[in-house]
Amino acid sequence: MKKIGGSLFILLAVLCIFGCNKKENNNKTNSDTMENVQVSDYGVTAKGDSIKKYTLTNKNGMKVEIINYGGIITSLMAPDKNGKYQDVVLGFTKPEDYFNGNPYYFGALIGRYGNRIANAKFTLEGKTYDIDKNDGPNSLHGGKEGFHTKIWTAEPVKDAKLPTLKLTYVSADGEEGYPGKLTTTVHYTLTDDNALEISYEAETDKATVVNLTQHSYFNLSGNFSNLITDHELQINADKFLPVNSTLIPVGEEKSVKGTPFDFTAAKAIGKDITAQDEQLKLGGGYDHNWILNGNGMRTIATVYHPASGRVMEVMTDQPGVQFYSGNFLDGKFDTKTGGKYEKRSGFCLETQHYPDSPNQPAFPTTELKPGQKYQTKTMYKFSVKK
Ligand code: BGC
Repeated sequence: MKKIGGSLFILLAVLCIFGCNKKENNNKTNSDTMENVQVSDYGVTAKGDSIKKYTLTNKNGMKVEIINYGGIITSLMAPDKNGKYQDVVLGFTKPEDYFNGNPYYFGALIGRYGNRIANAKFTLEGKTYDIDKNDGPNSLHGGKEGFHTKIWTAEPVKDAKLPTLKLTYVSADGEEGYPGKLTTTVHYTLTDDNALEISYEAETDKATVVNLTQHSYFNLSGNFSNLITDHELQINADKFLPVNSTLIPVGEEKSVKGTPFDFTAAKAIGKDITAQDEQLKLGGGYDHNWILNGNGMRTIATVYHPASGRVMEVMTDQPGVQFYSGNFLDGKFDTKTGGKYEKRSGFCLETQHYPDSPNQPAFPTTELKPGQKYQTKTMYKFSVKK
């Protein structure tokens, strides 16, 4: 009896060792994928859709939170000169505020067409398309029900070396007035050198126009009651696009030299923002597209916040960037750190093709034809200067 008991004990112990090992291995695999992209419940839309939040964490402990509603970045924690991580992107405190229209496009993926299209129409291959008119006479950011309002299919990329989230959205032919069924894939990757990389891809089954971008507002101070006017900005652009009263480029490519739009050398955003200037008056501040110098993937802008030491570099392969100084933020919504989002409590650097390109043949084309692949990349890289 004793002998049988002893053997049984040994057998159980051996089984347990195998079992436990197996469990440990499973746990390891789980935690490997779980470690760098964690999934949690975020909220439920008015229509009853459950929205998830995906937290990307890199080896330094930097975290970015993204939801599959609008592909919105809801939080991005970046270290300051003392290694203190703070959230540097504007966002709502309540999920409903994203789901009920997101009036400022906080953190969202923008499509099909980032920025404005004049008179909400364009002609392509001899056919005129009327698209959603949601900004005075114009169409802004893909229309009222643009990609920022869509539920994207989200999946953490399991075999990726770095934390990566893949988002896919299929836009039906005719959605918001645009031709062609457009399949869009966006990958968000957080690199080991604290860069958030955003890769966009799209394919269509009919000729269409595409101009995708990301609409995060940044405030590198980590306190959203601080205005961004003390942030020092440098943009690698010798020219910008002056606009008319509805913020449509007039077609001229103007030199920044001698104007408040000269950011070729770093200067505080607030330095010239109140200067007597027709273009600043029209935008209520900066709300213009800069024509970026050079081609291909390159550093196009650098922002430095002296008090925190935080630095953000922007790299892109796109021809333009919309620098928007948060002029329309109007104190209606609570910030994540107390107080309200006021005018100039955040800025955007939206990498993109020029506004209204479908109506301005002199601008680089935004047309996409069947068989072609739209492919672009932008990175926001965070570091410190002491
Ligand atoms: C535009 C602004 C607009 C804002 C909406 C920016 O991309 O340039 O004119 O008001 O988006 O939040």
